[in-house]
Amino acid sequence: MRLFSSVKDVTDINALVAEGLALKKNPYAHQHLGKNKTLGLVFLNPSLRTRMSTQKAALNLGMNVMVLNVDKEGWALELRDNVVMNGTTVEHIREAAAVMGQYVDILGVRSFPGLKNREEDYTEVIFNKFVEFCGVPVVSLESATRHPLQSLADLISIEELKTRPRPKVVLTWAPHIKPLPQAVPNSFSEWMCKAEVDFVITHPAGYELSPDFTTGATITHNQNEAIADADFIYVKNWSAFEPYGQIFGDNKDWMLTNDRLKTTNNAKVMHCLPVRRDLELSSEILDGPSSIVVHEAGNRVWAAQAVLKQMLEQLQ
Ligand code: CP
Repeated sequence: MRLFSSVKDVTDINALVAEGLALKKNPYAHQHLGKNKTLGLVFLNPSLRTRMSTQKAALNLGMNVMVLNVDKEGWALELRDNVVMNGTTVEHIREAAAVMGQYVDILGVRSFPGLKNREEDYTEVIFNKFVEFCGVPVVSLESATRHPLQSLADLISIEELKTRPRPKVVLTWAPHIKPLPQAVPNSFSEWMCKAEVDFVITHPAGYELSPDFTTGATITHNQNEAIADADFIYVKNWSAFEPYGQIFGDNKDWMLTNDRLKTTNNAKVMHCLPVRRDLELSSEILDGPSSIVVHEAGNRVWAAQAVLKQMLEQLQ
């Protein structure tokens, strides 16, 4: 694997999940793979889980790790071609990414969408420039439209905790105070559509995701109907795909409470984190037995380690 940016880069998702679970049982079995190899992690946006779990995964594999918060610590990057750089940008991404590729064997990149220009975001302009110019294998640490390490960790969590062979998994929109990207729900949806689950998406009218990510899912505006008999409920806010990046009203009644879980199959509640308590998801759920959000975040290590292991095997 030279690129991990989407479920489409994975030849066998069941094998990758099994690899993650095997690594969880035996984290240090493959330290020879990472000896004298360096992972670079480049963040254009903030992170807690992705930063720490991917570092931990690389260390478990015997790699060295370098982290650059390019938004705060690097030179201001010019992303456009054919511009005279007489403004605030100091270094072009062509040179910056190419130089990073001189120092590392695998590069991880986080680059969120601007949520202003859908064409720009959905063609992954920034992430793809890193891929084009760095010259080494690249792992997405969340791009404008996808968060594949999160989705893999989510699928690992579902596989680990499911109580029936084909669980019902529901992705539900949740309230928020500001427009958020569609990357997590897009990605979760495209992974679930390939997994052995019954997958339902529920959201208020107007928050339809791009059909490029949801083919195969059942989609409804009725949250109560969606979550009935659910085994897993994945809670996430996102802004509209059309009109792009917009939000409409507060939809406070979409926040899940324990009472709303009564019709589920003892559902486990998931969220990628960070989560705004009592806005997106109730404290009573987060602090109660239904929540698996911390377990899910823990599995980020094994997701990252499974992907890095496959990349390192190809570098040997
Ligand atoms: N879920 C997730 O990616 O968390 P961070 O943004 O903190 O990395």
